[in-house]
Amino acid sequence: MVELILKKRNGLELSKDELTSIIDGFVSGEIPDYQISAFLMAVFFEGMNSTETAILTDIMMRSGELIDLSEIKGVKVDKHSTGGVGDKTTLVLAPLVAAAGVPVAKMSGRGLGHTGGTLDKMESIKGLSVDMTREEFIDNIKEHNIAVCGQNADLVPADKKLYALRDVTGTVDNISLIASSIMSKKLACGADAIVIDLKVGHGAFMKTVKDAEQLAKMMIGIGSKMNRKVVAVITSMSEPLGCAIGNALEVKEAIETLKGNGPEDLTALCLELGSHMLVLGEVAKTQSEAVEILKKLIASGAAFNKFKELVKAQGGDINVIDKTDLFPNTKYSEAYKSKSDGYVSDLNALDIGLASVKLGAGRETKTSEIDYGAGIVLKKKIGDYVNKNETLAILHSNDQLNFAKANKFMDLAYKISKEKPLQKPLILKTIS
Ligand code: URA
Repeated sequence: MVELILKKRNGLELSKDELTSIIDGFVSGEIPDYQISAFLMAVFFEGMNSTETAILTDIMMRSGELIDLSEIKGVKVDKHSTGGVGDKTTLVLAPLVAAAGVPVAKMSGRGLGHTGGTLDKMESIKGLSVDMTREEFIDNIKEHNIAVCGQNADLVPADKKLYALRDVTGTVDNISLIASSIMSKKLACGADAIVIDLKVGHGAFMKTVKDAEQLAKMMIGIGSKMNRKVVAVITSMSEPLGCAIGNALEVKEAIETLKGNGPEDLTALCLELGSHMLVLGEVAKTQSEAVEILKKLIASGAAFNKFKELVKAQGGDINVIDKTDLFPNTKYSEAYKSKSDGYVSDLNALDIGLASVKLGAGRETKTSEIDYGAGIVLKKKIGDYVNKNETLAILHSNDQLNFAKANKFMDLAYKISKEKPLQKPLILKTIS
């Protein structure tokens, strides 16, 4: 292992056998964390070329069980977001695309740090379970065209162990490590085609479009080596997506979006990602045809009904979906007000994410309990005019002491200026 660490530290390419011995040795416990940490740091500084990254992905993918979806008819299309704040797209997209006839087999993750996770959001629905066996997962897709579940312990154990170590060794934001982490999981889940929502900005791992493009190309390359079509949509995560941040608050916003009353940015992103999924799923020939199909499914109520079907199939209480005031609430709410007149010129997604964690909506450690009702509803976003003392956002928490902690981040998040800022596009680039 010392020789392999030195080889990478000196900027040399590692062979398939060498990478296999590193990953297999780590998963089996033969190679200790401190040597893998040094190896990860060497990769962080010296990088990996596309061949090494594709080999690493393949080894990671094969470190656990592989899900075979071939008995489900149709092109199975998965979607992955690299993570953000207020990102509830899966809650809208999965039922929307399933309603259009594309089978959706979705394995999602939990929130960590300032970013939220689909599983936590779904669990804010009373009774709903995201734990299912592989057979139940496949049966649900066959019957309802949709299932959303958590990552099973046997799926890509190499990523589980590596990600936990990267998280505490400052080696998360490396393009080869991110590409292999995401793609190994997507490939192990058995999808035929994958749409990646690659976030860029304050609240994302990738801070520049240039880095995001490199990551996109790396993932597309890995996909094509494995005969999978991959489309990467680079989207802005400078400000939060939509207005709701926090688990139950985000599910309620997703429900409104499925009914056609969602915020403009969230709706636009779902139509963009969904249209790629329909084209890859061979339900539409062009993106514009796909957008028309998706809009009709929203207008007719079919997308919302598919969401209810998903909730019911996974044991959730559908009364809550019809009467959203039955969702978990908080004892206290407080308005966060503007300290001056002017335009909102910045709304830092990272700081909003951290404020929502302070309110109880996220985990400060992996074992923290989530307060499902807690979070933030933004009343003003970038480009909006605000008067002094007007409400910028409403904060929700079950502990009044949390408001002061969250307000420190709210003060950092909102910038008010006299000049109206230029509106930046949400969808920055598509690479396929
Ligand atoms: N999401 C993942 O699954 N892995 C990464 O490395 C980064 C984001």
